[in-house]
Amino acid sequence: MRLSFVPLLAVLSQLAHGLSIPDGLIDSIKREISSHPGYIKLSAKKSYADDASGILTNATSINPNSKNFPYFQRTAAKTDDDPAFILKNQNVFYSVDIAVGSKGDVVTVLLDTGSSDFWVMSSSNPYCIEGTGGDSHNTLGSPEPTSTSSGDEPEKTGYNSVDCSDFGTFDQSGSSSWHDNGTTFYIQYEDKTFSQGTWGTDQISIQGVKIQDVSVAVCDKSDSRFGVLGISYAELESTNSQSSDSPYTYQNLPLTLKDQGLISKNTYSVYLDDPNAQTASVLFGAVDKNKYTDDLILLPIINSDSPGDQPYEISVTFNKITLGSKKQNKKVQIASGAGSGVLDTGTTLTYLTHDVFDAIKKVTGFPVGQYGYLTADCDLGDDYYLTINFQGFDVDVSFSNLLLQNDDGSCSLGIATNEDDIVILGDTFLTSVYAVIDLEDNVVALAKANYDSNSESIEVVSDSIPSASQAPSYSATYGGEIGTVLHVTATGSL
Ligand SMILES: *[C@@H]1O[C@H](CO)[C@@H](O)[C@H](O)[C@H]1NC(C)=O
Ligand SMILES: *[C@@H]1O[C@H](CO)[C@@H](O)[C@H](O)[C@H]1NC(C)=O
Repeated sequence: MRLSFVPLLAVLSQLAHGLSIPDGLIDSIKREISSHPGYIKLSAKKSYADDASGILTNATSINPNSKNFPYFQRTAAKTDDDPAFILKNQNVFYSVDIAVGSKGDVVTVLLDTGSSDFWVMSSSNPYCIEGTGGDSHNTLGSPEPTSTSSGDEPEKTGYNSVDCSDFGTFDQSGSSSWHDNGTTFYIQYEDKTFSQGTWGTDQISIQGVKIQDVSVAVCDKSDSRFGVLGISYAELESTNSQSSDSPYTYQNLPLTLKDQGLISKNTYSVYLDDPNAQTASVLFGAVDKNKYTDDLILLPIINSDSPGDQPYEISVTFNKITLGSKKQNKKVQIASGAGSGVLDTGTTLTYLTHDVFDAIKKVTGFPVGQYGYLTADCDLGDDYYLTINFQGFDVDVSFSNLLLQNDDGSCSLGIATNEDDIVILGDTFLTSVYAVIDLEDNVVALAKANYDSNSESIEVVSDSIPSASQAPSYSATYGGEIGTVLHVTATGSL
């Protein structure tokens, strides 16, 4: 999810050479490495939400008239009236269950490569519908009927109260290992949803692996329904916001895993599997060679605001967008030049520029549906594909990954635009690839996702990404000074 703040670029140059590990830790790291496999696999499950009034385990009923747009669609929604979630499966997100604190309160949080902070809902969030804050959920749908609402009502923003039992809450007062940092956490996403709380550290457990002293913000004021596990650059942390008096970065979860020797490099592999799969995974510190076909192709992560400087988000450049039809054996180039896009698991759709969107409309002849999305024949899933060329490396995205079904059975294309023409390669793109993200060397390796693997072949990443080769026209300064210069070239039709 994109944030509404600009990270502090001034401090970036100081951090350009990476974060160093204090000397004293080296020994303990070496000890730890010997007793761990060197990677952590975090399984994510696909979750669905409609609006503030209820979570669906199946995406079945989306109410297009609701004033509440989906919380995870942080980028498109501009006003309370934005009918952002007409698409039946649009509001899908990838969530992980994490046990927090000495009592192991289980919270379900959105897994987000588009932000960098880990925050959970406090059991005393006054936005929680009475009776749903209480204790952490252990079984969905049967919350403890205890609510300790704090006295202060947060300012209302037009959102409904939220049922906090669906995704669990954390009660830090019940955790003997909780350490309060005494500092305030505040984050606002582009859709104006916000979360506010207190920073602290506690132990967490993710799928059986216990991690000590993890920085986590516990939010007692939030109009989101679930917390977020942001795993991007430290530079993108909310503590590093320009609006802060004394901005700083801290060790977020991926950096903490490295610091404690659980992984040897701040690198992880994202595998969202096929669009119909119910699970996805992030492998911290390793690559699973069975989850992709062909080769891993390296692309530089770039700072799209200031090419050449330390990146702060997982932004890669591309130079061509093409539409194709297998049945017609035909390709039509939509645009070429230099563009950049953010790889963001926390955004459901793929956002392209208005020009590109219009060209896709022209070339396909797809009509614009009631809410601005292109309406397409559901059967085109097996025929049409979108190809994005990243520095000479083509990634094909089948329409079966891009088409989303509406309530009435019709299909819409999971491509949208946003006001600022920011390209976001969200879940409708990411399901096509296996993405290895190396935040130390500032490179991403992409390969075609393999949906058919039932086994693992895990290789720990300790140096460069294994068996990855550079894209044909690899260039870390690709795009030059100007950022996005993408010329629409579309002629012809499919
Ligand atoms: C989703 O719906 C299908 C069909 O109604 C049902 O069999 C399945 O159990 C549901 N899945 C969940 C997670 O509720
Ligand atoms: C919280 O405090 C711990 C211990 O001093 C520190 O390591 C960590 O960076 C702090 N977290 C944040 C978000 O400031």
